Amino acid sequence: MKTPTRPLIAGNWKMNGSRAFAKDMAEALVNRLSEREEVGFEMLLCPPAPLIDVVRESVGASGIVIGGQDCHAAKQGAHTGDIAAVMLADAGCNYVIVGHSERRGDYGEVDAVVRDKAAAVQMAGLIPLVCVGETVEQREAGEAVEIVTKQVEGSIPNGSSASTVIVAYEPVWAIGTGRSATVKDIAEIHNSIRTVLSKIVVDGESVRILYGGSVKPDNAAAILSVDNVNGALVGGASLNAHEFFSIAEAAPS
Ligand code: 13P
Repeated sequence: MKTPTRPLIAGNWKMNGSRAFAKDMAEALVNRLSEREEVGFEMLLCPPAPLIDVVRESVGASGIVIGGQDCHAAKQGAHTGDIAAVMLADAGCNYVIVGHSERRGDYGEVDAVVRDKAAAVQMAGLIPLVCVGETVEQREAGEAVEIVTKQVEGSIPNGSSASTVIVAYEPVWAIGTGRSATVKDIAEIHNSIRTVLSKIVVDGESVRILYGGSVKPDNAAAILSVDNVNGALVGGASLNAHEFFSIAEAAPS
């Protein structure tokens, strides 16, 4: 089943870029967008926090939206180095990625932490992109569906709805490896995520579920046409304007 909303094509720049890069990238994407009569996708850029303002200035009123890559669960306080969701809202963001496997791995962020961060994002009036995904060991042990189901159940705040939460399935073994999941694997996990969402979210059948993990221009059309895939969360290929835009153009509208 497809959701009625346009596919969301999100670029996670991770810890890459400079102000000059951000300006060039954003302007190149705006130019490409302006050449199109109809835009059948929504485009989201998630730069590192110090580059948010330059991206915001460069995208202007193009319709490209901006997201943070993480936030703290608290509104403010003594948390050196952290950023509150309300600050990302103030900086012009509409979305925030939470629970990325690189955060879960590098900082030991468990589901309860991810859920609290997602709730803080919602409280700030923004939409969390809640990331889930199994490791290669978990997949080889046949536990992928079980692990991802548990992560979805544990990481999504109570009271979420299709307009206040997005899920991103990113198998850890497919991130940055050039080894994307197969269309069959993606379909299986996205279907199981849809099933859980239908149980725990009031309008779970309409929540957007993105796929991430080595999405490239040459596999984007196949991935984006899988049932229950409502967009992509792109890492490496989002650092190249031509590649990222090609992925967006591959989205079925
Ligand atoms: P890659 O597209 O580089 O595999 O990264 C995916 C990802 O982690 C996006 O959040």
